[in-house]
Amino acid sequence: MVYELITKRRTIRKFLQKKIDPVLLEKFVDAARLAPSAANRQPLEFVVVNQEKLVGQIFEHTQWAGYIKPYGRPQKGQEPVAFICIVVNKEISSRYYTIDCGAAAQNLVLAALEEGIGSCIIGAFDKKSIEKMVGVPKQREVVLVVAFGYPAEQPMAEHAGTDSIQYYKDEQGTLHVPKRELHRVLYFNHY
Ligand SMILES: Cc1cc2nc3c(=O)[nH]c(=O)nc-3n(C[C@H](O)[C@H](O)[C@H](O)COP(=O)(O)O)c2cc1C
Repeated sequence: MVYELITKRRTIRKFLQKKIDPVLLEKFVDAARLAPSAANRQPLEFVVVNQEKLVGQIFEHTQWAGYIKPYGRPQKGQEPVAFICIVVNKEISSRYYTIDCGAAAQNLVLAALEEGIGSCIIGAFDKKSIEKMVGVPKQREVVLVVAFGYPAEQPMAEHAGTDSIQYYKDEQGTLHVPKRELHRVLYFNHY
């Protein structure tokens, strides 16, 4: 089941304008807080943003699909309907906090996918502005922002071969995501 979800997951950048039940958003954070954490320090905190106006403001300070700018950005009427900001508490963080953050983000994404909800992990955002918008206190920092919404696109993974790993859109507007094949990245015992 988990493997199936992992293989079918793709980053979504077009969303239906249908609200997500807050109970589900809470469930995703619950999955994230249970993620592995270096030395079990658990330095991460999560800000769920689902107020329409604030979601719109945060959206304005995020960047999408750098390889296919500006086409990869959600167009009007396709924007995410919620964000979860992953915040590190610097008072308790270890030097591995960004790795903790990746594990937590993946738990958010997979828990959402199980509910039929798509997402996009966003590292390219205006940190200062977003921290101000959600009132991040001292000794805290937003590390990643994850966008959510019911999917309005079906991107496809494909073999990268020796070609580029840059995702692209075909004439129909379908997003293709080249992935390095297993035999190019897997080694048993030795390189
Ligand atoms: C740490 C991290 C940061 C990312 N930042 C962005 C971002 O700022 N904007 C964006 O559109 N996608 C972002 N992505 C999504 C990647 O572009 C996406 O995962 C990649 O193209 C592979 O596609 P897939 O998720 O469908 O496998 C990010 C992903 C990760 C893991």
